[in-house]
Amino acid sequence: MIPHLSERALVLAPQGRDALVAGAMLEEAGLNCTVVRDVPQLVDELRAGAGFVLVTEEAIAGADLKLLSTWLVAQPEWSDLPFVLLTLRGGGLERNPSARRYLEVLGNVTFLERPFHPTTLISLAQSALRGRRRQYDARTRLEELNALAEGLEQRVAERTAAHATAVAQLHEVQKLETLGQLTGGVAHDFNNLLTPITGALDLLEKQYAESDPRAARLLRNGLKAADRAKTLVQRLLGFARRQTLQTRPVDISRLVCGMRDLIASSVGPTIEIRIEIDDDVPLAMVDPNQLELAILNLSVNGRDAMADGGTLTISITLRECSNDAGAGSGPPPGRYVCLTVSDVGCGMDAATLSRAVEPFYSTKEVGRGTGLGLSMVHGLAAQLGGGFKIASEPGQGTTVDLYLPIAGTDTVGLDSLAPEAARSSDRIHSVLLVDDEDIVRVATAEMVRELGHQVTEAASGSEALGLLASGLEFDVLMTDYKMPRMDGAELARRVKAVQPHIEVLLITGYTGATTEVGSYTRLDKPFGQKEIRAAFADLFAQDDNVVPFPESLRRS
Ligand SMILES: Nc1ncnc2c1ncn2[C@@H]1O[C@H](COP(=O)(O)OP(=O)(O)OP(=O)(O)O)[C@@H](O)[C@H]1O
Ligand SMILES: [Mg+2]
Repeated sequence: MIPHLSERALVLAPQGRDALVAGAMLEEAGLNCTVVRDVPQLVDELRAGAGFVLVTEEAIAGADLKLLSTWLVAQPEWSDLPFVLLTLRGGGLERNPSARRYLEVLGNVTFLERPFHPTTLISLAQSALRGRRRQYDARTRLEELNALAEGLEQRVAERTAAHATAVAQLHEVQKLETLGQLTGGVAHDFNNLLTPITGALDLLEKQYAESDPRAARLLRNGLKAADRAKTLVQRLLGFARRQTLQTRPVDISRLVCGMRDLIASSVGPTIEIRIEIDDDVPLAMVDPNQLELAILNLSVNGRDAMADGGTLTISITLRECSNDAGAGSGPPPGRYVCLTVSDVGCGMDAATLSRAVEPFYSTKEVGRGTGLGLSMVHGLAAQLGGGFKIASEPGQGTTVDLYLPIAGTDTVGLDSLAPEAARSSDRIHSVLLVDDEDIVRVATAEMVRELGHQVTEAASGSEALGLLASGLEFDVLMTDYKMPRMDGAELARRVKAVQPHIEVLLITGYTGATTEVGSYTRLDKPFGQKEIRAAFADLFAQDDNVVPFPESLRRS
């Protein structure tokens, strides 16, 4: 319907001067008129739009009204076109039988008997037009309602799709969670077993390596294998989010710059390393050793994806994340130090991408990939309270974002970490060693004794307290954290109550939260003599309020 025609009157009065007269009257009253010759032309004009129709009885008396009737029946639901019919004879329908037929065909019709007064015609015309305008209003409201309904449908469709995605993500998270629990349990037991193995090999190597070259080779091989097993377990614990994190405020930019050589030697000469650092990025609360491992894992993945060389970009930015920042492992809303590692390599298709963080998922040939690299990075990000996002397309390279929580302002940076504190570990100490697992305790005791210290063993917290009660005094309480009945932290508290000056070294396999072990110096399983020596050094260095420099950041 053409809008400016929607208010006009269509006049069908082919005989005599009727049309002219009626048209003149309507125009005088300010109404717009179009005169038509016959019913087909009337229907044509109706399609363009009309306010009402003025028609004489004789114009439709003998005419074929099928076309008009079809048009009228097909009107949209809001429309009921008004007619003013000028009749020859007046009176009710019973006195004018043909009028009944017109009523049936035309529907919304007002009869006006001739001769009529012009005022009557004008008033009928105006009321027909008013009726028509009300129909137009109804049309607008209907259209609005339809639009609303359409919008609703679309919103329902969008919500349904979002719900389906969320359910799929939830399943993914649950799957990873279950795998994590399983892996965490296995890794924890494995870690415990690894400690006596490493310890025994360590001691045997010292004893026999010089005198027996063959034994030396075998023992070194054994130690190398144990070391690889240790890395594997660390990654498993990382994925399961059960590693003992030693978080501290770290300047990520310095950490990454300090790793440049290490990364370069890991990725080889065909890959250019670019490091981009934004200004004013705050310190992040991370475990520097674990973060280094994560960066190495990502860099090595980048290298493997760029078989013909390319550029590996590591960038550090400050980012604001809102609620919609990402599905699944996106970080909670807030500000983060974002560490991005991107390559221009082969990228991943959707199927690989969706499984990339699954533990043991690897597309690399057997023996080349453990499939634990990304799992560890993903787990670390979650355990730190940050987030992990990965984007990749075949042939377009891969970008991994690690969102790291910002450190509070009242903390110390890496800058303040002293490289090598004055060690008092060379002094001989009396050590009370508590561990409920015999094989771990025996191996640990041997290693500590080999370092020259005096060791007294206890298989439980209560046994240890009994020794103290009997009057024995010790410099160091070295205790396993996870023990039945009384855990290491509880034992430490009770021992400190009796001997306040005793130093405490907690042996940790894994702990859910790092806060549980409080401020005590920790020794992570599995460990060898080197780690024990370092832990003792840290223990006594702390007397001087020196924060230990992370072992792995030391470069020889
Ligand atoms: N940067 C990348 N470009 C292309 N594919 C990648 C990238 N990073 C990971 N992938 C894909 O995800 C899989 C899993 O990666 P992940 O690091 O967990 O294990 P991996 O690299 O196979 O083994 P490992 O880390 O022990 O060497 C890879 O095998 C590879 O298919
Ligand atoms: Mg990898």
